[in-house]
Formats: sequence, structure tokens, C-alpha cells
Amino acid sequence: MNTGKCIQLEKKVILNTYSRPDFVLTHGKGVYVYDKENKKYLDFCAGIAVNALGHCEKTSVKILKKQAEKLWHCSNLYYSEPQIRVAELLTRITFADKVFFCNSGAEAIEGALKIARKWAHAVKDKNAHQIISFHQAFHGRTFGALSATGQPKFWEGFEPLVPGFVYATFNDLESVKKHITPHTCAIIAEPVQGESGIFPAQKAFLQGLRNLCDENNCLLIFDEIQCGLGRTGSFCAYEHSGIEPDIMTMAKPIAGGLPMGTILMKDHIAEHTKVGNHGSTFGGGPLVSRVAEHVIKTIADGDFLTHVKKTGQYLKDQLSQIKSDKITAIRGKGLIVGVELDQDPQKIIQTCVSNGLLLCKAGNNTIRFLPPLTVKKKHIDKAMGIFQRSLKG
Ligand SMILES: Cc1ncc(COP(=O)(O)O)c(C=O)c1O
Repeated sequence: MNTGKCIQLEKKVILNTYSRPDFVLTHGKGVYVYDKENKKYLDFCAGIAVNALGHCEKTSVKILKKQAEKLWHCSNLYYSEPQIRVAELLTRITFADKVFFCNSGAEAIEGALKIARKWAHAVKDKNAHQIISFHQAFHGRTFGALSATGQPKFWEGFEPLVPGFVYATFNDLESVKKHITPHTCAIIAEPVQGESGIFPAQKAFLQGLRNLCDENNCLLIFDEIQCGLGRTGSFCAYEHSGIEPDIMTMAKPIAGGLPMGTILMKDHIAEHTKVGNHGSTFGGGPLVSRVAEHVIKTIADGDFLTHVKKTGQYLKDQLSQIKSDKITAIRGKGLIVGVELDQDPQKIIQTCVSNGLLLCKAGNNTIRFLPPLTVKKKHIDKAMGIFQRSLKG
């Protein structure tokens, strides 16, 4: 099928939930992807913070091929070693004692909310079901995750939401305190709010959330689906704050582009979720887990994280040097950077795409820079050239 035919057929047969530019991607290598016309794009979207090691990274492909000949799927009715290895690795690297595997970010959020409520039912009481989330948060599209997403524009037409969610103001501890009651089960927060425009949480704010949870016997859940796994320059984004959550979700880049979601938690929480309480047919299957083990090991390496810190700083420095009165702010940490504009960025993003640079929007007025974590300075220089030209556009 040529590009036109593909797009025409897509309009006919795919539910119209996405607005896509008019090219069809066929393959990728490193930080580049290619379309049907063999046009090359520098990918600073990375599948929305997913392709952390770039496209078709050599070792990932090798591991995937090898495992594809052994065992793809066996369900969670049976033990399989790749899954156990990934869990052991994650518990070694992070705060967590136990891991649950699923297939996406939203699914990880659903499970995290269920596990938190199970804990509260056992440790507090059955009315301690309330979850404090934040305005401008994004946690996913399924009902629990949507209810935790403090942005009414995503709720429209889908109400009623799951009961028990209240919303405080991000980076405003006083507003959180006002919502704490004996019915509070947990606070859920992104250490860097991603979808709403790249807003990093202040260190004191995260520390304050930790204290509030401790003082009021509720759980602190961090959603690191977008900002975790090396994106900010540390393996977990919470490491910058010096505190730890009780539950954490990770997904997007964890299996290098294959679908995997994870819920990480402490033992004292895990012990209240029993056999039959939660489950997944596909979660943590051998194929994705073998790749995830490699991705996690690669990202957790000190030199790799130093590279992310350095290139992230370089990206921010280069963006700061661009002289354009369209830019109103630059925010971010490591390789999750948002450039806020004085206008809807969609047109500028489209121009960037036409000029061979993939970027994505966040919130109403921000362009997100989320390159593969393996990006080099030379790629950033190239991206800056295209971005600058497209801004003038
Ligand atoms: C912070 C955060 N949480 C949850 C999700 C939902 O993840 P998924 O699209 O894999 O369901 C996203 C997706 O963008 C996200 O950025």
C-alpha cells in the first residue's frame, strides 16, 4: 500500500482517537525513524518516552529473536524465569520489595490503586478509600486512571468517574493538607508531570507529601510511567528528592518498546493483596521480560545515567540559547524537557515534522523533547537547527 492508500484505509477502519501527520512509518534505527517514502526523521518523541535505547537496538533485537524461539507466552498460571529475573532486578535497584507485572501504564495505575485500597481496608478501615491526586495530573485512560487524572477535559462524556478521588494543587502542600481526612487512603503524584506540560515537583513538595503520608497513615504512590527509568538522569525520578514512595508505577520504556507495565511496592503493602485479588493474562510474559531485563540493566548503569544527565543539560542549554519571543519557559530534568510557547504549538510541531524532527505536544502550549536516552550531542545540534528554523516558520 502506498502512503495515500494507507491513510485512506486507516480513516475507514480505525477508531478516530488520534490525529496523525500524513506519513506512514516503516522502520527505525537508533534515534531515526523512516517513512514509506524513505524520508528520515530525527525522533525526539521516542514513542512518547518509550524507545529509551533507540529503535531496533542491536542487543534488544538479538535477545528478542533468541527468546522468540524458546517461549513467548505461558500466562501467569505458571512460573517463568525471565519475569522473576526482572522483578529481582527492580527490587535490587529501587525501594521496592515486590513487583506486579501488567501491560501498560494505565493498567499499572489501576493495579496500584487497587493495591492501595486493599491495604487501607486491612490496615485502616473500609471507608479509608479516598485518593488524593492533582490538578493537571495524567495517569491514563481507563476508569480508575482517568479518575486519578485531574483534568476534566479527559473526563468529558465518560462520567460518572470512579468515586473517591479528590484533587489538590501540584507543588502546593497546603492544598494537599486540606484534603487529608481519616478516609484518605493514598496520595498519587507524578514526580514530573508529563502530559500537562513537563512540570517537575519541587523537592520540598515531595518530601512534604512523604511526611503527610507518614503522619496520617496513608500511602504515597509515585507514577513514574513517563519520568522514570533514567529519563531524569537517575534510575527513578524520586531519587532526586531523597524520599521514597510506598508504591510506584513504571511502564513506557521498561521493555524498550514492547508493552510492559509494572507496579512496585513495599512488603508491608504487598502482604494485603492475596492470591486471586488481582491478575493479568499477559503481564510479564517471557518475551517482553527478557528484553526488559536488558533495558533495565542498561539504564541502571552509572555511565548511562551520567550520559542522560549530561545530554539533558546540553539540550536545555541549547534550547535556552534560542532567541525567540515565542518561547515563554523551558522546564524539565534530564531528557524530559518542555518548551512552553505563547501559542498552541501544533503548527510549529507540524513544521518540525515536515523538516524531519518528531516532537510531541504537552498540555495546551508546550512542546515536549523526549529523545531516546542514547541521543548524542550531534543529534541535539541537528534537532536544534530544525527547531529554530521551524520556530521562525
Ligand atoms: C505519567 C503517566 N501515567 C500513565 C500513563 C498511561 O500510560 P499508557 O498510555 O501506557 O496507558 C501515561 C501516558 O502517557 C503517563 O504519562
